[in-house]
Amino acid sequence: MTQSQSTRTAREKADVVILGAGPAGLTLANLLHARGIDCVVLERADRAHVETRARAGFLAANTVRTLDRHGLAEGLHRRGQPHGTCEFRTEGGSFRLDYARLGRGEAHTVYPQQDLVTDLLAHYLAAGGRIRFATEALAVHGADGPRPTVATRDTDTDTDTERDGNGDGGTVHWQARYVAGCDGRHGAARRSLPPGTPRHHRDHGISWLGLLAQAPPSLDAVGYAVHRRGFAGHMARTPEVTRYYLQCDRGTDPGAWSDERIWDELDTRMRSADHHPLHRGPIIQRTVIDLESDVIEPLRHGSLLLAGDAASLPAPAAAKGANLAVLEAELLADALTETLAHGDTGPLDRYSHTCLTHIWRAQEFSHWMIQLLHTPPGPDGESFFHESMRRSRLDSLRTSRAFQDWFAESYVGI
Ligand code: APR
Repeated sequence: MTQSQSTRTAREKADVVILGAGPAGLTLANLLHARGIDCVVLERADRAHVETRARAGFLAANTVRTLDRHGLAEGLHRRGQPHGTCEFRTEGGSFRLDYARLGRGEAHTVYPQQDLVTDLLAHYLAAGGRIRFATEALAVHGADGPRPTVATRDTDTDTDTERDGNGDGGTVHWQARYVAGCDGRHGAARRSLPPGTPRHHRDHGISWLGLLAQAPPSLDAVGYAVHRRGFAGHMARTPEVTRYYLQCDRGTDPGAWSDERIWDELDTRMRSADHHPLHRGPIIQRTVIDLESDVIEPLRHGSLLLAGDAASLPAPAAAKGANLAVLEAELLADALTETLAHGDTGPLDRYSHTCLTHIWRAQEFSHWMIQLLHTPPGPDGESFFHESMRRSRLDSLRTSRAFQDWFAESYVGI
């Protein structure tokens, strides 16, 4: 490496360094900043990517209340759409559940996550919050002590930052009192956990072809199709864009499915012949999602704390991810505020246990949904047994008010 390519090492500091500008990181940043806690968000992507990345869009009533409490819900009240109905399409017939009238009588708000993240970011910046885009956290050091540091590198290739022979930008070390890992399941926070930290992982053995269609919703409900060819799902995102899922084989190449083949398969599994054809349009995004779940336990390691997907990954069958992220962000903001502003570390000591109670409830219901909607891979005998149990659960969901109340409370609850 030549002298001119030597890596620059600079030092910055903040009481709380937040890794990741997703729902967890930005909710946490807004709450801490509003309480006068010195914090900074380090985000590896650029702002445009963060604001346009299409992710989940199904906010639970508790999430809306949390965002409302902190003045962060103005956009979702203006553009979000209430949503309170599921439609199950099965070989035994179709039925609808108006879950907003069942259980606790709570509905979801359909609000694209990229819009929520854009709102959270705008609010944080307008309040004078600090964020560094194109800044990738490489590792968290010293979390077992009172002064952790975060090593970062500049990922913006356009800057004049000196680069070493590997093309890496300068290294900036952030000194903190606490580090909040909100950088997802593949982020630096998880990589920096002590070796042997328990990660409870489950691969459900099921994969989805996740699709975004430039087409209006075809149902006025979340559609769950249970079919011998596999699961299909329909979720409205906006009046012009609809999310679909198709259960597919593990290792499927998303490019191998033409738009026409996708629409034909969706029409088959959604039993459109018994209803009406789906509104077709260009498929503008396609990815293969392997349904996995995991939970890190505990969520606190000294001065490093996890929230959102960095803490746990629920299977996407019940849209719990972003809602858990907001809930955990508020719990963590409250705990860090008590510690840093009032010297009371009690809430921080209880943070992991409190979150894990909610996480495991969300995991349990997401797992139940996966079993309800899919025939798992496995020997015929097992799948026949599973099929019979699944049919029984669907019948209970169709006929039992008590079962429907439980479903509604679990489906919307966090
Ligand atoms: N350094 C800095 N930023 C990072 C790093 C890193 N090493 N690794 C990841 N990030 C950023 C990502 O670019 C992303 O913006 O962390 C952010 C993580 O955001 P999310 O993946 O949205 O995770 P989270 O905030 O926990 O939200 C969880 O929201 O994305 C939806 O439904 C999805 O369940 C998920 C939920």
